[in-house]
This record gives sequence, C-alpha cells and structure tokens, in this order.
Amino acid sequence: MPKPSKKNNTCKLEYAGKESEKDILSGKGAENLVTEGCFNVKNNAHGAQNLLIKGDNLPVLQTLIKMKNARHAALTNTDGTTGARLIYIDPPFSTMLKFRAKDNQHAYDDNKTGGVFIEFLRKRLILLRELLSPNGSIYVHLDWKKAHYVKAVMDEVFGEENFLNDIIWSYGGRGAKAIANQFSRNHDIILWYKKGLGHIFNKISGEKRFAKGSGGFRQDEDGRWFKTAPRGDYTDGSIKELEKAGRIYRTRNNTVRIKYFLREDENHIIEDKLIGDVWDDIPDAMHISRAEKTGYPTQKPEALLNRVISASSTQGDIVLDAFAGSGTTLVTAEKLGRRWIGIDSGSLAINTAKERLANLNGKGNEPVSFMFCRAKSK
Ligand SMILES: C[S@@+](CC[C@H](N)C(=O)[O-])C[C@H]1O[C@@H](n2cnc3c(N)ncnc32)[C@H](O)[C@@H]1O
Repeated sequence: MPKPSKKNNTCKLEYAGKESEKDILSGKGAENLVTEGCFNVKNNAHGAQNLLIKGDNLPVLQTLIKMKNARHAALTNTDGTTGARLIYIDPPFSTMLKFRAKDNQHAYDDNKTGGVFIEFLRKRLILLRELLSPNGSIYVHLDWKKAHYVKAVMDEVFGEENFLNDIIWSYGGRGAKAIANQFSRNHDIILWYKKGLGHIFNKISGEKRFAKGSGGFRQDEDGRWFKTAPRGDYTDGSIKELEKAGRIYRTRNNTVRIKYFLREDENHIIEDKLIGDVWDDIPDAMHISRAEKTGYPTQKPEALLNRVISASSTQGDIVLDAFAGSGTTLVTAEKLGRRWIGIDSGSLAINTAKERLANLNGKGNEPVSFMFCRAKSK
C-alpha cells in the first residue's frame, strides 16, 4: 500500500468563516504607509530605516510583503537577504478583558472568541510566514486559553515538520488564590516555528548559583569544585579517556561517576546550564525594575525578548513584531544591534513605544533611528 504523503496526513482545524490562503494573500486590503516622522535618520548604522507603524496589522503586513518583494531597504537584512529573520508576536489572548494603562488610559480591547479569534490570528500568521526570510523563524506568545488551537493552525500554516519548540515561560510569583479549586496558572506558552530552510539557533546558557557550604558539591585536591553524575551510557573506552582528564570520581563502593567542574566566586559555586524549553528564570513584568516599567498593561520583560532575539538572530538582522504594544521587542532588538519593524493599532501602544525608543539614547549610545508611519487606506 502507498504511504500517505505528509500533506494528506495533515490535520486541519475547521470553523465557520475560514478564508482561503489565496484570498488572504491577494493583498486586496494593502494600504499606503504614510511617513509621519523620522527620528535621527543620519545616524542609522545600517543605511536603512527601522519602522514603527500605526495601523491594523493585516493590511500593513500585506503592504510589507509588497515591499519585501520589491527588495525595499527596510525589508533587507544586512547580509542582503530579504524578509524578517525573526518574528515575535504577543497578540491578544482572547481574555475578554478591556486593557487599560496604569493611569487608566485605554490600551486595547481583547474581545475576540472562538473561530473569530482563530481566524484573526491565522490570517496574520499566513502573512507573517510570507514576510520571513528563507532561514527565518517565528515565536508566537500565548497562554492556556488558545495556545492549543493555535498550535494546530501553525502546523497547518508552517508545516508540522517546522515546529521547533513549545516553550514554557514559567513566570512564577503569583500564588494560587485561596479560593481556587485548581492548580495555579503561572506559565505562558511560546510556540516556535521555522520557515523551512534551516534557522538560526545560538545556544544560550544560564547560570545557577549555590551558596558555598550548600550540599551536593565536592572539592578535588586542587580546590576545584565539582558535582558528579552517573556514568550513563559512556563506554569503557570513554571512561578511560575521562579518567586521563581527571573527570572520574569513585564512590566508597567503587562505583564510577563522572565529574563536572563548576566555577566559583567568593561566596558561590556557579553551574553553567544550557537553557532548555522551560524558562523559569525570567520573572514577569510585575517584577521588573521601575526604570523598565512603562505602565502599559500587558508589557513583557526585556529579559524574555533578550533570550528570544539572542537565540534566533544575529547583528544587523531584521526583527519584526506585529503586535508591538509598548515596544519591548523593538527596544531589546535595538539594544542587541538588530534592526526592527514594529506595528500596533493602538495610540497608547505607539506613543509608549515611540517614547521608549526615543529615550533609549543613553550616554554613549548612538541615537535610535526610526521612521514612524501610519497606514492609510488607498
Ligand atoms: C499583548 S499586547 C503586546 C504587548 C507587548 N508585547 C509589550 O511588551 O508591550 C497586544 C497588542 O496587540 C495590539 N493589537 C491588537 N490587535 C491588533 C491589530 N489588528 N493590529 C495591530 N495591533 C493590534 C494591541 O493594541 C496590543 O498593544
């Protein structure tokens, strides 16, 4: 019997109002981008503008695809490839909440449910896929409400074979309410997909610090701290090699264990650990410094975006955020020497991001260069 092709094997989510990809990609709604202001144009290090765009991201993304196809400088990476190397989006989560800033200004209404929410996002995901560079990748930040539906949609739009990680951002810090009759909800879900032709992944390691004197660590005759682990599936040959390198520890009953040396400072033993897909070392925005807080209701911490951008792009690459909010992605991209494009439909979001970017020019930094545009119907 012939094997079913991957294509025939794909599961699809069905709901009322689902449009064809062809119609979504037709670019019927594309709008003009009208320049409203340029900031520090002369100091642009890459000879092209970063873009902050106010408007509904659907027609704006259609416009950006046209610009990409025309090899517009704003859509061309420093290495000459076109399209965003990295896309991060943090869309509304279908919470049914009206979000307001600290000073009670209206931010945005998150009021789409069911198939309407899924189709809203699916349309944008299809356009975002077209905007990625051939070796680009996309992170989609969600929570428990819709992440599982969106996973199915992303498998359909990007291909199940391009799924890279389901990252759990365990932001902690919020205990279960005394009256809650369930486990406390304290993580978000970030789905990571590549476009297809390879992708950038810079391994990231974090460190864990243990007070000296805390259990589980030993010192060798040279005073170096180490911990041990079972030999696992190391062959006898490998064990011999490790023995030569001083990496073997024998217990009292002569069981072989592998030594892992650790760094130290005055008071701590420091263990370097490659970051996995559970991120429990980045507190949520309630716990960021006062200087970083903007008052925008759903602001994400720069540390989170720092990890995403550092892992999946290199200097001079374009980073795109189509639900930019207070501009966390843009500010972090700027700090890391990436180029960026941000879109948001809300006035408060755009004003917050604009101010944040303008204020980035701390002592010794290049002034931030960007063009502020508004999407205008043809
Ligand atoms: C969860 S917030 C993003 C927060 C952002 N990550 C930050 O750190 O501040 C979602 C944003 O999507 C914007 N938004 C919702 N619908 C949109 C649309 N159709 N086009 C553009 N932006 C939209 C909202 O105005 C809001 O700022």
